[in-house]
Amino acid sequence: MGLTVGNTQDNFNYKVVRQFALVTVLWGIVGMLVGVILAAQLIWPDITMNIPWLSYGRLRPLHTNAVIFAFGGSALFATSYYIVQRTCQVRLFSDKLAAFTFWGWQAVIVAAAISLPLGMSTSKEYAELEWPIDILITLVWVAYAVVFFGTVIKRKTKHIYVSNWFFGAYILTIAMLHIFNNLEMPASLFKSYSAYSGAQDAMIQWWYGHNAVGFFLTTSFLGMMYYFIPKQAERPIYSYRLSIVHFWALNFTYMWAGPHHLQHTALPDWTQSLGMVFSLILLAPSWGGMINGIMTLSGAWHKLRSDPILKFLITALSFYGMSTFEGSMMSIKTVNSLSHYTDWTIGHVHSGALGWVAMITIGSMYYLIPRLVGQKEMHSTKLIELHFWISTIGVVLYIAAMWIAGVMQGLMWRAFQVDGTLTYSFVESVKATYPFYAIRLLGGVCFLFGMFVMAYNVLKTIQNKKFVDAPIPTSNLATAH
Ligand code: HEM
Ligand code: HEM
Repeated sequence: MGLTVGNTQDNFNYKVVRQFALVTVLWGIVGMLVGVILAAQLIWPDITMNIPWLSYGRLRPLHTNAVIFAFGGSALFATSYYIVQRTCQVRLFSDKLAAFTFWGWQAVIVAAAISLPLGMSTSKEYAELEWPIDILITLVWVAYAVVFFGTVIKRKTKHIYVSNWFFGAYILTIAMLHIFNNLEMPASLFKSYSAYSGAQDAMIQWWYGHNAVGFFLTTSFLGMMYYFIPKQAERPIYSYRLSIVHFWALNFTYMWAGPHHLQHTALPDWTQSLGMVFSLILLAPSWGGMINGIMTLSGAWHKLRSDPILKFLITALSFYGMSTFEGSMMSIKTVNSLSHYTDWTIGHVHSGALGWVAMITIGSMYYLIPRLVGQKEMHSTKLIELHFWISTIGVVLYIAAMWIAGVMQGLMWRAFQVDGTLTYSFVESVKATYPFYAIRLLGGVCFLFGMFVMAYNVLKTIQNKKFVDAPIPTSNLATAH
C-alpha cells in the first residue's frame, strides 16, 4: 500500500491513515451488527440458542468495546494522524511507530473479540479487558503519544491548530484514565482483581467511565469536528477565540462530573452533588462548541441542501447538543431517580453514540477516504444521501423508542397504591417495553444497513485507484492545510 512520489519525507504518511480509515468502516459494521443482535436478544432471549459465548452478558461488552474502541478508536487514529500532518505541514514523526500503532491496535481488537465472548472480563464497564491486553493497550498508546506529539513538535507552522489541542488532551487523558482504573493484581493469565474496593472502586470506575465518554467519545471527536466542518463548508471556524475557551472549559469541567453515574448510591452525598453541579456547568462549554461548529456554516447554509457530507457533520452536532442537554438534565438528582436503571439512559447513550459519534465519523470518512486515493469525491453522492437519511431515521427510531420506554418504566416502578403496595410488578414493565424494543431493533437495522451502503461506496471509491501519498506543500504554509 502506498505509492509515493520522490523522497518519502516529501510526502505525508497517508498509508497509516488509509489503513485506519478502512478498518473504521469494517469495525463499524461488526460492532453495530453485535448491537443489532443484542437488540434482538432483548425481544427474543433464545435467539442465540443458549450458546454461552453468544449470551447477552458476553456480547454486550463485545458491542461496547467494538463500537467505542475498534470503530471510534480507528476513526480517531485515522483523523488525528491526517489532521496533525496537514495542519503541522510535516510527515508523521515516525512511520515505524505509526505502523506499530495500527497493528498493535488491531491486535487489541482481535484479543477483545476472542476474550470477551469466552467470558474473560474484569467486570468494569468499558474497561473489561484483562491485564495482558491492558499492557498491550498501554504500549500502543505510548507509541501513539510519541507519534502525535513528535509530529506537533517538528511542525513547520508556528501555530498549533485547535484540533490538535483537542486530540492532544484526549491522548493524555485516556493514558491517565487507563492506567489508574486498571491498577489490578493478576491472579492468572486471564484473571485479575482490582486494586480498589467498595465505594472507592465505584468512584474510580465512574471517574474513568465518564471521562472515557468525555475524552474518548467527545473531546477527540470535537477535534475531528473542528477540522472537517470548516473544510467541507469551505469556511473558517465561526470563532477561533471561542474554540480555545471551549477547549479549556470543557476539559476542566468534564473531570468532575463522574459521580452523576452514581446518584443515590453509597457514594458520599457531597460527591454526588458535586457531580451534579459540574454536569450542569458542562452544558455551557458543550453548547459553546456546538454553536461554534454550526455557526461555521454562516453564509453557507445553502450548502446543506445539496451536500450530504455536510448534512452528516451538522446533524451530528445537533445530536451532540441534544445529548449534552439531556445528560445535564439527567444528572439532576430528582431526574436521575426516575431515569437511572431505565432505557432512558440507553436512549441518551445512543443519541450521543449514534447521533454524534457515529455521524461525525461517517461524515469525516466521506471527506477523507477519497482524498487518500487521490480523488476529490466519493464514488456516489446519491448513496451518501441515502446513507444520511436511512441513518437519521435509524437514530430517531432508536432514541425515541428508548425515551418513551424509559420514562414509562421509571413511572411504572414508582407507582404506588393507596395501601402502599406497588401498582405494577417488574415483569409488567418488561412486557410493556416489548413494542419499544421492536422499534429500537428496526432503528438499529436501518443504521446498520446504512453502514453497508457506506462500505459499498467506499469499495467502489478505492477500486482500481492508486494509493497516493500527497506531497507536503513547500510554500504558503499558513493556508495550505
Ligand atoms: C454535558 C454532557 C453530558 C452529561 C452531563 C451527561 C450525563 C449523563 C448522565 C447523568 C448519565 C446517566 C447516569 C446514570 O443514571 O447511570 C449518562 C449516561 C451516559 N452517557 Fe452521558 N452525558 C453527557 C454527554 C454524553 C455524550 C455526548 C455521550 C456519548 C457520546 C454520552 C454517553 C453516555 C453513556 C455511554 C452513558 C451510560 C454509562 C453507563 O451507565 O454505562 N454522554 N450521561
Ligand atoms: C446499529 C447500531 C446499534 C445498535 C442496534 C445498538 C444496540 C445496543 C443495545 C441493544 C445495547 C444494550 C442496551 C441494554 O443493555 O439495555 C447497547 C449498549 C450500548 N451501546 Fe449500542 N448499539 C448501536 C450502536 C452503537 C454505537 C455506534 C455506539 C458508540 C459509538 C454504541 C454504544 C453503546 C454503549 C456505550 C452501550 C452501553 C450503554 C450503557 O451501559 O448504559 N452503540 N447498544
